[in-house]
Amino acid sequence: MKIMLFGLLAVLAGCSDAVDQFVYSGFTGSNLILDGGARVTPSGLLELTNGMVRLKGHAFHPTPLYLRKSPNGMVQSFSVSFVFAILCDYPDSCGHGLAFFISTSKNFSSAFWTQYLGLFNSRNNGDPNNHIFAIELDTVQNDDLQDISNNHIGININSLHSMQSHDAGFYDDKSGDFKNLTLISHKAMQVWVNYEREITQINVTMAPLNVEKPVKPLLSTTHNLSTVLTDSAYIGFSSSTGTVSGKHYVLGWSFGMNSPAPSIDIAKLPRLGKKARSKVLQTILPIVAVVFLLSAGTIFLCVWRNLRYAELREDWEVEYGPQSYWDIAGGKVNFS
Ligand SMILES: *[C@@H]1O[C@H](CO)[C@@H](O)[C@H](O)[C@H]1NC(C)=O
Ligand SMILES: *[C@@H]1O[C@H](CO)[C@@H](O)[C@H](O)[C@H]1NC(C)=O
Ligand SMILES: *[C@@H]1O[C@H](CO)[C@@H](O)[C@H](O)[C@H]1NC(C)=O
Ligand SMILES: *[C@@H]1O[C@H](CO)[C@@H](O)[C@H](O)[C@H]1NC(C)=O
Repeated sequence: MKIMLFGLLAVLAGCSDAVDQFVYSGFTGSNLILDGGARVTPSGLLELTNGMVRLKGHAFHPTPLYLRKSPNGMVQSFSVSFVFAILCDYPDSCGHGLAFFISTSKNFSSAFWTQYLGLFNSRNNGDPNNHIFAIELDTVQNDDLQDISNNHIGININSLHSMQSHDAGFYDDKSGDFKNLTLISHKAMQVWVNYEREITQINVTMAPLNVEKPVKPLLSTTHNLSTVLTDSAYIGFSSSTGTVSGKHYVLGWSFGMNSPAPSIDIAKLPRLGKKARSKVLQTILPIVAVVFLLSAGTIFLCVWRNLRYAELREDWEVEYGPQSYWDIAGGKVNFS
């Protein structure tokens, strides 16, 4: 009985701080809340969109976060890391991107796909009542949202017009040089988001999977998230496709409140599928296949005709004996 009670207490203690910290190294067995095109694949990938056009998908950690220590207190410091990948059938038309977010509501039924990334619509974009903080990984340049490029990462408050954005990449720790990264490269990459309550600083950093978190963040700004986020809020991911489409995946994800985000076990991450063929290959392959089939068909027909001819000849030979010479109207016809 004592042991049971002790066990129960341990479980309860585990529950109460479960919202303060979590880590997913792959999503097999997780009970994320999913909507739209989102699903967890048998291999454990969180697939937000699957390459179909005009699709949106969301995934939420099952329990809301309690971001303040008291109802009127400040939003606490937090830290997030996640590993994502974007797969494209056609590298020259792939979209629209994905976003990490913290939001009061998990009802995104009225959000638009395409450039709205399944987060906002044309009416509520920019509305302070959204109470949404998001980091966008945007692969289509939309002039109406003042996007800087078709390969950028941005800090967004209640709007898809980023308060700060930069081309995807990282600052090399040794040289200090900026190294660009291509979001739609089919490669898994890691992103870190850090918020510091005292100075209301937001840092966003990214790097390839085999590179340690760079010291210098890619984006750094200040915004008091206590004025944006409500006490209870959902944390998750959103993605959308438009007339151009892509497959958007999250491989791993971790969160820590008043502590660094636990490190994701890279070795345990689910594997991505085979790289999509290039457009050149996709055009050439069918032609090669047709040419091959036609040649094979021609060769087969030739061989078949020769065999048939040989058979006919053999029948002839059986009937009239080999090496027969016929005399037709005085001429000699050789059938052998
Ligand atoms: C979600 O919001 C829409 C309006 O935007 C509303 O019609 C719908 O009932 C809401 N769904 C839930 C489950 O609350
Ligand atoms: C990244 O940089 C390389 C060379 O430094 C360049 O060839 C490539 O086009 C750049 N990619 C993007 C997406 O800017
Ligand atoms: C942001 O990055 C700078 C430079 O590395 C660092 O000094 C600062 O503590 C970081 N802030 C947060 C909130 O992580
Ligand atoms: C942030 O906003 C909250 C609520 O408005 C306020 O109490 C707090 O002092 C602000 N923090 C800073 C550092 O300005």
